[in-house]
Amino acid sequence: MDKPSRRNVLMAGGTLGAVGALSAATPAHAGSLWTWSPTGSVAGTGEGADPRWVWDEEADQLVAALIDRGDVPRVNRLLRTWTKNGQPLPSGLPADLRDFMERARRLPSWADQGKLATAVNFNEKRGLYLGVTYGFASGMMSTAIPKEARAVYYSKGGADMRDRITKTAKLGYDIGTSNAYKPTGEMVVTCVKTRLAHAGVRHLLPKSPHWSKVADEEIPISQADMMVTWHSLPTTVMQNLAKWKVPIPAAESEAFLHSWQVCAHMLGIKDEYIPNSWAEANAQAKQVLDPILAPTPEGIKLADILLNMGTLVPGGPLRYITKPILGSLTRYILGDEIATWLKIPREPLWDGVFETLWEPFVAVREGLLSLEQAPGALQKFYWAFDEILRLGVLLVLSGADLPISIEIPDANNPN
Ligand code: HEM
Repeated sequence: MDKPSRRNVLMAGGTLGAVGALSAATPAHAGSLWTWSPTGSVAGTGEGADPRWVWDEEADQLVAALIDRGDVPRVNRLLRTWTKNGQPLPSGLPADLRDFMERARRLPSWADQGKLATAVNFNEKRGLYLGVTYGFASGMMSTAIPKEARAVYYSKGGADMRDRITKTAKLGYDIGTSNAYKPTGEMVVTCVKTRLAHAGVRHLLPKSPHWSKVADEEIPISQADMMVTWHSLPTTVMQNLAKWKVPIPAAESEAFLHSWQVCAHMLGIKDEYIPNSWAEANAQAKQVLDPILAPTPEGIKLADILLNMGTLVPGGPLRYITKPILGSLTRYILGDEIATWLKIPREPLWDGVFETLWEPFVAVREGLLSLEQAPGALQKFYWAFDEILRLGVLLVLSGADLPISIEIPDANNPN
């Protein structure tokens, strides 16, 4: 039996429960059923439907219609002027889009301003580590997420990776700003525009002969895919900070999670799929992220581009932080298996340096260990590690470059 397409599912009655039942009845899916319970979600309840067969119904229909009507260039032009969360939508938008965006821009009822304020503190205190982990844990991991790698490679943005990285960095930058979700901030705008861009990708990518040839799905960016990518962000970041023994008060850790829960909601992920705690997030990631990581030709090429980007980041000079060093950093953060998949060469010196000295470096920075007590070699490499932290920050800051407007695609990558 074929995978149920969204169209089939809609024709069959369209209830989410029915979708879950469909996949449950398919022996091929028996090993990978969605068993994560919505009781662990921010909604606390839900249908428990398998999110591999759920997309973003309203946004998808709307953006498909915009694309088919030829409205996208005009809409993108108008939306370039919409930059602040509290700003009215530009006049001249199609009525159906305006109506949707007015609803999509509202924060969820469960958004907690106190926690969002604590998240700001956390981002300010830990910005240095966040830059490195967003770039070399989340960013590099995304190239080992097959569905994401293929979607990114064959969509319009795949033709200009530098532009795409900057646009993606904008989200990482915006979520860390002090007014992220406030009326003067930009995170709501970024999320709503990204939600529209994703809807565009869902409509366009199935028409790409390149994507269709290699994809193992009919429509990209399901709710499950979005949660996978989400886990490559906050869940992976927090796991690394814990591994490096960065001291983080529980309230700050929870607040960071909260800012990403709100982000998930604003991107159109249903509340019943968004974990309500780190324990639930880790459990869900184990189920949805860990088993799907794998190499693809597209991911290998993207990883190579990303490793070069690190040395080209604006605001350098970072000429000492070369591609081989960033390759070793990636190997250290993501492990041998993923580094090998991504064809990152082994570096006899730097692989060992990260393995033995990164954690002491963090301990020294945190005042938990004196430089004298640390392994002697750390003194020699301290500057390089400091530069790497700076590179991470610059990568995130590249998302602050104006003008950046996330746009609805109107075509695929022609290559
Ligand atoms: C676009 C973030 C999930 C595929 C974007 C953009 C951002 C973003 C900020 C705008 C950048 C740009 O236009 O170049 C996120 C976040 C996600 C997520 C935070 C999850 C929490 C996914 C998933 C896929 C995906 C799961 C595919 C499986 C794409 C593609 C574009 C895009 C192909 C580019 C559209 C174009 O070419 O114009 N995403 N994304 N995203 N995203 Fe995502």
